[in-house]
Amino acid sequence: SKKPVRVAVTGAAGQIGYALLFRIASGEMLGKDQPVILQLLEIPDEKAQNALKGVIMELEDCAFPLLAGIEAHSDPMTAFKDTDYALLVGARPRGPGMERADLLAANAQIFTAQGKALNAVASRNVKVLVVGNPANTNAYIAMKSAPDLPRENFTAMLRLDHNRAASQIAAKIGCSVGDIEKLCVWGNHSPTMYADYRFATVDGKSVKDAINDHDWNANVFLPTVGKRGAAIIAARGLSSAASAANAAIDHMRDWALGTNGKWVTMGIPSNGEYGIPKDVMFGYPVTTEGGKYKIVEGLPIDAFSQECINKTLAELQGEQDGVKHLL
Ligand code: NAI
Repeated sequence: SKKPVRVAVTGAAGQIGYALLFRIASGEMLGKDQPVILQLLEIPDEKAQNALKGVIMELEDCAFPLLAGIEAHSDPMTAFKDTDYALLVGARPRGPGMERADLLAANAQIFTAQGKALNAVASRNVKVLVVGNPANTNAYIAMKSAPDLPRENFTAMLRLDHNRAASQIAAKIGCSVGDIEKLCVWGNHSPTMYADYRFATVDGKSVKDAINDHDWNANVFLPTVGKRGAAIIAARGLSSAASAANAAIDHMRDWALGTNGKWVTMGIPSNGEYGIPKDVMFGYPVTTEGGKYKIVEGLPIDAFSQECINKTLAELQGEQDGVKHLL
């Protein structure tokens, strides 16, 4: 049987952690033949550490054959030791009266420390997914704090936006969500993201032609996908957790195991593709193979799309400028 791989998860006692860990341990992320060791990080706070103990008891009680070990940590320097995969879920939420700058600064502190720890102790091939918001900027900070690791090892989660877009399209045209190909989401994980179905197909037929309604695209589809997180908070009283965990599983599984030519969306550091400045952590259409992702290049960008891309890029650059002095 295969040698276990190490999977670090931060914010492990949180909502997303609770929807995520059991699926990783059951083999849904890295395959049903891949044993895993979970390295779980929570803040040192006693309540959080106790909650983490409870989650670990439940993991034990599932008796997952693929779960080769579980560790509880309160320091990223031990949590990330030799880790092959790191899912950075824990982040500082916006508290009452907190300004955007305060939020960015609090998260900059967390993701600087975690980036440094990854740089110091993680596997040199570690695949990092940042889920904690603001996800793209937190991933950018972690990447900038880990100069000895390849930049391309750092990614941000746009997959929830991608999956939300796929689900809206499937409902609109009455197809099965799994039959949608060549969908992508550009930019920031925020309401400014640009979900783009211009290239999407179902059974080889154009989704754009089937919908043929620019007004629906601009005034229904994009706002629905962009504000979906807020709609879930309004309905549930809590932010999306199971769907976020599911997207994290999808992102990591596809990165590790390949997409067979299928497009997916990942937030990744730009190398200048589509005019996005280098290092901006941007949602792009990618395919993956052999543990590496590749941007789908050469797609035509029309005026409406360019406007959308410029808007989400401007927001991201604003966030990155806001943390520059902290790096
Ligand atoms: P939560 O508040 O239930 O759990 C977060 C956990 O992280 C808490 O247990 C907290 O103690 C822990 N934590 C905070 N700082 C930490 C640190 N420095 N190191 C280790 N652990 C730390 O939140 P939830 O619902 O699990 O969401 C987590 C994050 O994911 C939030 O920032 C949320 O905004 C974000 N999110 C991102 C999505 C995306 O698509 N990128 C979708 C949904 C949520």
